[in-house]
Amino acid sequence: MPLQPPLPKPPAGLFPRAVERARITDFLSRALEASLERVAAGSTVPTFDRERFRAELARFDFVAPRPLEAVLEWTVAQLEHGITHMTHPCHFGLFNPNPTLPAQCADRIAGAFNPQLASTASSPVPVELEAHVIRAIGARAGLPAGAGHFATGGAEANYTALILALTRADPGFAERGARAFAGPVVLYASRESHGAWHKIAHQAGIGRAALNLVATDGAGRMDPAALAAAVALDRAQGRVPVMVAATAGTTAAGMIDPLGAIAALAAREGLWLHVDAAWGGAALVSERLRPHLAGVEAADSLTIDAHKWFATTMGCAMFITPHAPLLSQAFHSATSYMPSSDAALDPYLTTVQWSRRFLGLRLFLSLATVGWTGYAQHVERAVAVIDRVRAGLEQRGWTTVNDSPLALLALLPPPALGEVRTLVRRVVRAGRAWVAAASFEGRDVVRICATNGETRERDVETLVDELNAPAG
Ligand SMILES: Cc1ncc(COP(=O)(O)O)c(C=O)c1O
Repeated sequence: MPLQPPLPKPPAGLFPRAVERARITDFLSRALEASLERVAAGSTVPTFDRERFRAELARFDFVAPRPLEAVLEWTVAQLEHGITHMTHPCHFGLFNPNPTLPAQCADRIAGAFNPQLASTASSPVPVELEAHVIRAIGARAGLPAGAGHFATGGAEANYTALILALTRADPGFAERGARAFAGPVVLYASRESHGAWHKIAHQAGIGRAALNLVATDGAGRMDPAALAAAVALDRAQGRVPVMVAATAGTTAAGMIDPLGAIAALAAREGLWLHVDAAWGGAALVSERLRPHLAGVEAADSLTIDAHKWFATTMGCAMFITPHAPLLSQAFHSATSYMPSSDAALDPYLTTVQWSRRFLGLRLFLSLATVGWTGYAQHVERAVAVIDRVRAGLEQRGWTTVNDSPLALLALLPPPALGEVRTLVRRVVRAGRAWVAAASFEGRDVVRICATNGETRERDVETLVDELNAPAG
């Protein structure tokens, strides 16, 4: 080879040497620990000033470089004051958890190795590891031969379910889309189901009108008789029922649809049965709670978000199905450049995504560390926290309006405390505890979910006091 000048050096700020890397990561760990300690004793909600922050951001013109340490310190400070804090022990949130340490370690490992999980050839160990976790959770649900994958969230997993249902219902869907069907297709979910189903119907190309929101029983559960009537009417009018999505743990009130009855109807009618257990699915780890999900074993597919009650870091859902070949049928592709060692398992050929992050390690490490028993302790503790909140509030004249066996309360305040949404706004704004307002069976309720695995007795007392504080 002719003599060449040396290659330019890589930018040290992007790729520092090992000693510097270790120093910076240690610095970041300490900064985070100190910040999280302040968060736990501070406000649950953002305390930043948007105008001031925008002015600060404007100073980042990306012309003059800055030391990474300084930028990290700045970023941690901004997050400390600029988000609603899931890690706050008085955060009774929208399913978003205080994340487990093993899950955070998984993010660090995934960040360092940066494996590409698109293919079995490039990431054989991560792909096997994820499949192992999926099988374990599938077995816990009683699904025969659970296959599936990790997804970015419940919405993606639920979308995957619809695509499989449509693909099974008519093989022509792959080429011709919704036009393959003899009439407009219909997907059923209860009136209390998650709001993303509308978007999912839209993005699947069957249109938002394809979603038939089935009546509930007045207690937040899908009414199987109403479902049967809706299917019959749709068929009589030339529509094509394809899938029913039962919810195991509704977003507003933690209610579980009657899975057995819905499964029987789905089998009778030849409908794909999906169970959206995005939050409630974690109850499968508890011998005491899992009977409430009886019937889930009949599902054609199942969504469970590890980033909800399993408390991994955000963006970690599971899609589980006994119909592995359908995944390949729905998501196959052909390229000249992708390495592959097992097309039936290659995530880029069996899922919505292409490039893919190593998400499953978060749940693997968490499960490996505490086992089913440790997780049972975690979910049962959440139910105990909620029982205590319920007792404290009922003693002060509140009325519980849901009947969920899981860790979620829907309540009405005594009239003296005023209207629900104003009350919730007042509590949230004060920043000492966080709860949500939601609509349950047509009326506004205060929604309280145990989402922080470290909530203590005194946090429950703070919450009860905050909710009963008079306006003014
Ligand atoms: C029952 C249910 N399904 C689906 C979703 C959507 O999940 P994700 O936010 O992970 O996309 C949620 C979110 O709260 C949910 O409660």
